[in-house]
This record gives sequence, structure tokens and C-alpha cells, in this order.
Amino acid sequence: MLRAEGLNVAYGDFQVLWDASIRVGEGEIVCLLGPNGAGKSTLMNTLSGLLKPRTGRVEFRGKRIDRLPAHRIVAEGMSHVLERRRLFPYLTVRENLVLGAHHPGARRHREESLVHIEAIFPFLRERRQQLAHTLSGGEQQMVAIARGLMARPRLLMIDEPFLGLAPRVVEEIVAVIRRIHADGVTIIFIEQNVELALRLADRGYVLESGRTILEGSSPELLQSAEVKRIFLGGRAG
Ligand SMILES: Nc1ncnc2c1ncn2[C@@H]1O[C@H](COP(=O)(O)OP(=O)(O)O)[C@@H](O)[C@H]1O
Ligand SMILES: [Mg+2]
Repeated sequence: MLRAEGLNVAYGDFQVLWDASIRVGEGEIVCLLGPNGAGKSTLMNTLSGLLKPRTGRVEFRGKRIDRLPAHRIVAEGMSHVLERRRLFPYLTVRENLVLGAHHPGARRHREESLVHIEAIFPFLRERRQQLAHTLSGGEQQMVAIARGLMARPRLLMIDEPFLGLAPRVVEEIVAVIRRIHADGVTIIFIEQNVELALRLADRGYVLESGRTILEGSSPELLQSAEVKRIFLGGRAG
């Protein structure tokens, strides 16, 4: 479904991604792992077209997309829930959701999408008119994911959905992601907690200093000495 190869990405003179590559099959849940500053968000932003790679290519559903503007990539079926949610704090829940249905294909199905989304997130029903900034962190994360779904994606990418949330809320978001996946949406998410990430994901990629250094199934990565070295400060071997 998604294939990115040889991505080199820089902010001005500061190169962040070095030959990064990733492949995701239809129906998978894939996580991007790596310490702070490894380049996970930069990679996701490049996949969704917010950043343009210096070299390399991104293909989505058989089509090259790395030269397309981000809004065109959304219309192709890829939706990106940004790091730190980025809701409009002084708009209502409903207004935030509707902004996710921007491209014509999504706008046409807006009411249907809202019904579907309120089935996944029942609390949204009573909160339609509430200003986004008055919601709890977990609720805001759910609105951000729901807004991503309003674009009717085939691939949903979520940057750190669990950041700063209490364990009980983390479990609610895990359940929501599983539900979305069960509805037929492929998922890529970023998470720094290895145990949590690999419990949800089928497969993962590990980034270190801007390179995709490791890739494997969740059981393989949980066993990996390299993963222990990077994340637990343990000794390899
Ligand atoms: N807009 C930006 N301008 C310059 N440097 C940036 C920008 N965004 C991120 N970086 C740098 O790129 C590196 C990777 O950042 P990021 O992709 O956010 O990592 P991660 O998501 O893995 O924590 C970091 O060194 C960060 O400081
Ligand atoms: Mg990040």
C-alpha cells in the first residue's frame, strides 16, 4: 500500500533523514519507534507530503505522491493526525471534525462520516458544541483521530497518540485504534514506549539518528538485542 525508499530530508542545511525506507501492506498496523529526535515525525510528515524529500520517493497505492501537495495526498486516501493533536482550541468539537472532511470526496459523505465517528466515539455525541480546549487530553486526542477519519482514509497515520495520557486513557485509545483497523483502515503510528507500541502493532520500524536501522514483526523486535540497546540502555548481545 505504501512504499517509501531512500528518503533524504533536511531542514535547511540540517539533514535529519538519511536514506530512510519503509513499506506498509494493506491491513497492517505498523509502528515507528525510536528515541526523541530520531526523525519519526519528520518521516511521517514526509510520507503525508508536509515535507518534501531532497531525494527518494514515496508511492501510495501504486502512485508516486512525493511531489504532490499534502491536500492532494489526503484526497488519495492518506490521513495524518499530527503530533500534539493540533485542534482548533476555540472551535467546537463539531467544527473541528467538519474541517477534517475537506476534500470533495469526504465532504460529500460528511453526515454519514459523522454518524460513523459518533458510533466509534460515543462521548462526542454530547460534546458536539463544546469548545475543543475544554476537553481532557484523552478526549482531545480522540477528536484529533476522529477528525482524521472524517477524510475517509484507507491509511491513517497517527503521531504519538498516547503521549501524556493516563494508563486507562491509553487503553481506550488502543481500543479505538483496533476498532478503526477492524473497519478496514491501515494504520501507522509513532510511539516511544516499545512494549506498548508492539502490543498494538503487527510490525515496526526503528529509527535512530534519522536512519531506519531495523524492521521486524512485533515478536522479533521485542526479542531484539538492538532494540534493548536503544530503548533500555541495555548491552547488545
Ligand atoms: N522544523 C524543524 N526545523 C529544524 N529542525 C527540526 C524541525 N523539526 C524537527 N527538527 C529536528 O529534526 C530532528 C528530528 O526531529 P523529529 O522528526 O521531530 O524527531 P522525533 O519525532 O523522532 O522525535 C531533531 O533533531 C529536531 O530537532
Ligand atoms: Mg515526533
